[in-house]
Amino acid sequence: MTTTDDGGADGEPADEQRRHWQDTYTAHPEMYGEEPSAAAVHAAEVFRRRGARDVLELGAGHGRDALHFARRGFTVRATDFSTAGLDRLREAARAQGVADRLTTAVQDVRRPLAAPDASVDAVFAHMLMCMALSTPEIHALVREVHRVLRPGGVLVYTVRHTGDAHYGTGIAHGDDIHEHGGFAVHFFSRSLVDALTEGWTLDEVHAFEEGELPRRLWRITQTREDGPLG
Ligand SMILES: C[S@@+](CC[C@H](N)C(=O)[O-])C[C@H]1O[C@@H](n2cnc3c(N)ncnc32)[C@H](O)[C@@H]1O
Repeated sequence: MTTTDDGGADGEPADEQRRHWQDTYTAHPEMYGEEPSAAAVHAAEVFRRRGARDVLELGAGHGRDALHFARRGFTVRATDFSTAGLDRLREAARAQGVADRLTTAVQDVRRPLAAPDASVDAVFAHMLMCMALSTPEIHALVREVHRVLRPGGVLVYTVRHTGDAHYGTGIAHGDDIHEHGGFAVHFFSRSLVDALTEGWTLDEVHAFEEGELPRRLWRITQTREDGPLG
């Protein structure tokens, strides 16, 4: 199990969010619990059916979903810009006997992904794309995911959307980003989802809910257009 650091430099607006997430995971190391999200359980089945062997997770947090993928036999690279969450994840991976299949890396998704072209079978990102990222940063990230996926590789991501109860409330930062309790969220419109499919086949947009608010989310599955996994 290895850790690399590509966390980027401080000084941009989302760096405040990085500090906030770091403090949050330090105070609440298991804030999302030990069970995998429903989105990850679904994604693991999609990845298995597609013949994927390795998974890159973006915004993995303390790793409830990365651990699920590793337990299901995938080789997992779990990334986040918070080291506190990743530290916790490595401990859990050792305790669960999956440390040989799981690496962690500090990765701020506002920066190029630290992976070679066409090197990954599957990418998973649960509630990451809807963090404090501008629309151009989200487009750049999806282009990066396309670059690192193998031809026929699959992306499953989830985002809170404009039907969420928190959309349009709290502190408005522009670009559909609203902040509640220190957490900034970019609420996705359907037109943004569609705009992110150029060069992809859009397989599914599935609406679901999570948590007590509840958060209202879409789970999006899209496939790199240029052929099946080899
Ligand atoms: C809503 S939490 C979800 C965590 C995890 N996917 C889960 O569901 O358990 C969002 C995660 O994205 C991370 N994050 C936010 N902005 C990021 C960025 N620019 N680069 C990398 N990670 C980021 C946070 O540290 C946090 O772990």
